[in-house]
Amino acid sequence: MTNLLINVDHIGTLRNAREETFPDPVHAAARCEQAGADGIVFHLREDRRHITERDVRILTETVNGKLDFELSTEEEVVSICCDVAPDLATLVPERREEVTTEGGLDVTANRQRLESVTHRLYDAGVDQVSFFVDPAPAQIEATAAAGANCIELHTGDFANASTEAAQRKEAEQLATAARTAHEADLRVHAGHGLNYKNFPLFQETVPQVAEVSIGFAVMARAILVGMDRAVRDMRTTIAGTEPRNPRS
Ligand code: PXP
Repeated sequence: MTNLLINVDHIGTLRNAREETFPDPVHAAARCEQAGADGIVFHLREDRRHITERDVRILTETVNGKLDFELSTEEEVVSICCDVAPDLATLVPERREEVTTEGGLDVTANRQRLESVTHRLYDAGVDQVSFFVDPAPAQIEATAAAGANCIELHTGDFANASTEAAQRKEAEQLATAARTAHEADLRVHAGHGLNYKNFPLFQETVPQVAEVSIGFAVMARAILVGMDRAVRDMRTTIAGTEPRNPRS
């Protein structure tokens, strides 16, 4: 079955909004794992708007499953990632003014820097290095050429498509991208905007995905029904059985 990794950034956003010590992303991560998540994702941003270095250090110690550290190629964050050596490092683009990660990496334009960071991460003991990219053939080929052994396909356009026909078209494009990535020997991950409602179509059309990274939909549901139920509902969705209320 597809691995489910849960992103706990939004817990940090809520905590930081009140400059409080709670809710704690570390506690949230433990709850997610207890409810069946295969691992935890966080993004240490240059502006530290949600996850902090303290969170990174404790999560590295306490997460039992797979740990996915999302990062840009900013020097200080790369050093921290090398220091904690997560199971997976996912390189993402980052702009201060964005609300969330917008668009995939332009691997072709930034190949040299990405390649050098990738090799530093491997040298530091990170087993899997992934690039977050749009489902475009040139970016996928450049990802493999730069030395990544995984790729995370950006599912934002699929998630944001306004009609079912447009969504099916985006899903087909992701399926083609996943095939291209497999042919290039890349392990395929996916994420951004996946939720309880759109996941069945995604899974049906793009079956080659080893791992998904989901944050917002699970956290939004957790606020209303609790973390345990929200994670279990996503697990059920991935297993192909609809949860009771798959509205988002
Ligand atoms: N994958 C990457 C690389 C991301 O940047 C994000 C957003 O933080 C996600 C997955 C998860 O997206 P969402 O919160 O919409 O599930």
